[in-house]
Amino acid sequence: MKTAICEMLGIEMPIFAFSHCRDVVVEVSKAGGFGVLGGGLEPDQLETELKWIDNHIGGKPYGVDFLMPQRSAPVEEALAGSLRDLLPTPHRVFLENVLAASNLPVIAREDSAKIQRDALGRLKIRPDQHQELLDVTFRHPIKLLVSALGVPPANVISRAHSLGVKIGALVGSPEHAAKQKAAGVDVIIAQGHEAGGHTGHISTMVLVPQVVDCVFPTPVLAAGGIGGGRQMAAALALGADGVWCGSIWLATAQSDVDPKIKEKILRSSSSDAVITKAWSGKNNRILKSRWTEAWTKPDAPDVLMMPFQGLMTKEVMHRAGRSKSNDFLSHPAGQVIGQIKSETSVRQTVSDMLTEFSDTMERLTRIIS
Ligand SMILES: Cc1cc2nc3c(=O)[nH]c(=O)nc-3n(C[C@H](O)[C@H](O)[C@H](O)COP(=O)(O)O)c2cc1C
Repeated sequence: MKTAICEMLGIEMPIFAFSHCRDVVVEVSKAGGFGVLGGGLEPDQLETELKWIDNHIGGKPYGVDFLMPQRSAPVEEALAGSLRDLLPTPHRVFLENVLAASNLPVIAREDSAKIQRDALGRLKIRPDQHQELLDVTFRHPIKLLVSALGVPPANVISRAHSLGVKIGALVGSPEHAAKQKAAGVDVIIAQGHEAGGHTGHISTMVLVPQVVDCVFPTPVLAAGGIGGGRQMAAALALGADGVWCGSIWLATAQSDVDPKIKEKILRSSSSDAVITKAWSGKNNRILKSRWTEAWTKPDAPDVLMMPFQGLMTKEVMHRAGRSKSNDFLSHPAGQVIGQIKSETSVRQTVSDMLTEFSDTMERLTRIIS
């Protein structure tokens, strides 16, 4: 296959895999697509992951995605204060009530405090920490650096370009796409409402052509709701240069997602991938669970701003992970999970996507002739 993005990144097919799992990244790149490792790691962990990828990917191209937030004050202040300041009283009480009514394993108060404090400390939110992650990243032969949150800082774009690394950014509206292009971003990822994770309000079908028109000739990848060849053909028909998929890899054999989550995904329909602010404080599409349901009840307080809402989620998911039942467990996941019916390998998923894509193209060609 040949699209502008294939030429730009030296890949055989424009299938991109966003994943927090290094095995998925390696498998997709080795299959001829492009794996992108998601962030949220300490610099030394990132170094370990990238070294492993370099040793296993056989010289194929890959990328890294991470949050490059500008804001730091509230987190730093909270970490400097006492633990009691991390959550406001109504939220602490709500959390305690939800947990008390659950069958989740009990953990010591100090452990709960540690989970919350560690989660906050792991957020690489200060510019100097952010710098450390970039230093690690640029020591590896990455071909693409992707910003998940807003326009990447100008110095990051120029540093990447000076090293021959392309910059990508996720957008949920044509307006955001125009800003990214003006800042010098090389690849725009137009992510629709169907997607897993933080998402905007516009569906992929409506968003992609508008973004394509807005940033032409900058290549656009379609994201959100793409897991098969028919969806890939539709994305290319909308003007995208390739597809950027996240949820479809979650339940693959190579994914390191908790087996209880994988099982939940295999049993879920598209309606079980719900939008909620309960996970992180921002609109996020995740698997429905007793935790997401608790936040729809009248006694639920207003959600906290990111990143403080996520501290409650971290504790609940930690305890849910140790429970036999998976009714509290959740995970970011898109509507496309409704079409995942059994566990397959990453390679099989790519191969199935290509076969269905090719069949679709033939079928469409027959319609015209
Ligand atoms: C489990 C999960 C975590 C995600 N985390 C991030 C992230 O940290 N950074 C990012 O740019 N996108 C993230 N996303 C969004 C993906 O990059 C991608 O745009 C999205 O999964 C595409 O829609 P799909 O889920 O329908 O395939 C995440 C998606 C999932 C499913």
